[in-house]
Amino acid sequence: MTQTRKILVTSALPYANGNIHLGHMVEHIQTDIWVRFQKSRGHECYYVCADDTHGTPVMLAAQKQGVTPEAMIAQVRESHLADFTGFGIGYDNYYSTHSPENAEFSREIYLKLKANGKIATRTIEQLYDPEKNLFLPDRFVKGECPKCHAKDQYGDNCEVCGTTYSPTELIHPYSAISGATPVLKESEHFFFKLGECADFLKQWTSGNSTLANGAIQPHLQAEALNKMNEWLKDDNLSDWDISRDAPYFGFEIPDAPGKYFYVWLDAPIGYMASFKNLCDRIGVNFNDWFKADSEAELYHFIGKDILYFHALFWPATLHYSQHRIPTGVFAHGFLTVDGQKMSKSRGTFITARSYLEQGLNPEWMRYYFAAKLNSKIEDLDLNLGDFIARVNSDLVGKYINIAARAAGFIAKRFDGCLLSVNDSGLLRDLMSQSETIARDFELREYARALRDVMALADVVNEYVDANKPWELAKQPEQNERLHLVCSELINAFRILTVYLSPVLPELAKKAAVFLNIPELIWADSTSVLPAGHVIHNYVHLMQRVEQQQVDDLIAANKQSIQPPVQAVAPSYEPIAPIASFDDFMKIDLRVAQVLACDKVEGSSKLLKFRVDLGFEQRTIFSGIAASYPEPGKLVGRKVIVVANFASRKMAKFGLSEGMITSASGPDHQLFLLDVDSGAEPGMRVG
Ligand code: 2FM
Ligand code: ZN
Repeated sequence: MTQTRKILVTSALPYANGNIHLGHMVEHIQTDIWVRFQKSRGHECYYVCADDTHGTPVMLAAQKQGVTPEAMIAQVRESHLADFTGFGIGYDNYYSTHSPENAEFSREIYLKLKANGKIATRTIEQLYDPEKNLFLPDRFVKGECPKCHAKDQYGDNCEVCGTTYSPTELIHPYSAISGATPVLKESEHFFFKLGECADFLKQWTSGNSTLANGAIQPHLQAEALNKMNEWLKDDNLSDWDISRDAPYFGFEIPDAPGKYFYVWLDAPIGYMASFKNLCDRIGVNFNDWFKADSEAELYHFIGKDILYFHALFWPATLHYSQHRIPTGVFAHGFLTVDGQKMSKSRGTFITARSYLEQGLNPEWMRYYFAAKLNSKIEDLDLNLGDFIARVNSDLVGKYINIAARAAGFIAKRFDGCLLSVNDSGLLRDLMSQSETIARDFELREYARALRDVMALADVVNEYVDANKPWELAKQPEQNERLHLVCSELINAFRILTVYLSPVLPELAKKAAVFLNIPELIWADSTSVLPAGHVIHNYVHLMQRVEQQQVDDLIAANKQSIQPPVQAVAPSYEPIAPIASFDDFMKIDLRVAQVLACDKVEGSSKLLKFRVDLGFEQRTIFSGIAASYPEPGKLVGRKVIVVANFASRKMAKFGLSEGMITSASGPDHQLFLLDVDSGAEPGMRVG
């Protein structure tokens, strides 16, 4: 290793409305291993991430919980960070896209794009929920597939036959939020003129960067480049719609009241914002890393499903706002479990929380994923049987065992003191692999790196079997030999620990305590401990995985299959601001009896009530006709009336002298409230 590189690394920002599961973990573990490797090589490397907080789903989820989006995302961020930290992910900063830095950068970048003539406005037609009064994202429109006629399919594609379409093509569409039939409505949208960026994008996608150390880094993996070429080849890259209409949880677009940046505009800018927030805290010059001619390296680890955003939109956004461009985008495939898509009903949609709560060691999963990860965009299968076998045979059986087999003798027979091992052929072999293994980590060929490390562990175990320390221990004249062999084994364990340290940081820490040395760095893999070095007593460093633990994990994640629900899950209105007793008492609620109830000619919504409040009779119009098609049946029942509600003139129908209370659901059905027998007209409610 020669030159110190400046490296900024990101993982995709998880949405703030979902749990962290093992699918996320594949990516964040892959990234974390790479970052830990770079740091251990002595480079100036930072790893930033954040929660992706904006958009309609977050807004609706908060509404459903009856809290503000700000409160919800703050709480979710805490729990996401706890999950990731539990798996040993060592971000330098885990921030939020709902931050002042991100608001500022988003605004600044947008204005630069605009100044560069890259923003256009156009009026478009979109499906609109007339009850909730909002434009519906494609996933929030459901209906019958126009091709195979499967019911309840999303607005972008059919999960039954796989056809993709636009939401307007659905048969009998309905809003997944309210159940209402959506209507087409026009609105002005802002577009990033991506079509004009085609030349730049062709260059960037097929190009590479020369690193400060002279290495050549292709911007995209070969498979990713092929995909991009398909999209770029006909020069028909569509412009990108970057605005959404209120109500929306996000950042308002400058000089465009009621228009917000689409979540995918400000999400990647969130990488910059998280880094800026870190820079301000630790005194790093942010500009050096993001100016157009920056020599720092910038890498994004992502899933293959979001390549389009990171390989097209994001580089164009950076370039046309006079910032540096990414050095590399590293996409990975999806996680399957036992060869199948993760499934809640099978219990294979495993949340990070459940894994930690069931007491499984997160480094088992880090090792397993690493042992299967390479630099390609391939799906990764978590085979549960293989998981148990590999962790137990490789990690515990081969690697941990080396320390376990030697440490007892060193402690009991030699007071923890090591001999000089400078002439050890075994250790020379181990040290000679340092750069080969480093290259594999650098190239994200973790599976190959770990295969090599385990092959070295095999060599060490063969050395143990050939020298049989347990037999040497029985022969007093072999005392010196026993001391030497065990000193070599402890050193071998130390070198293997360096090679595994990006994957198993916690274990490497514990090993350093046992070895009585500072935290290991990569350079330690080409040196040995000096003669006379004293190690601590061995404490067991890692347990085996038991089948029962995996069974319990699956059981904990199993959710019974709900029968398909026709109705939309209820959504709750947020709680209104606190009302004091005095506030409440301003509303005079009274029991009233219905004397007459009739349809209103000329109105499909209203019913005309004549009610008895005990002390007087009144006429009240109420908009509940759709819920009570036979108004005559209401005569005689008791209802709750707001008696001091200001009288209202109902257009041509007459005066309404109060309000009849009712409960309303998400589909706007109304339900009159019941009064128990004994309550008489005129009684006050409160
Ligand atoms: O796909 C997702 O989960 C997005 N929240 C990823 C955003 S990555 C970045 F661009 F912010
Ligand atoms: Zn279909």
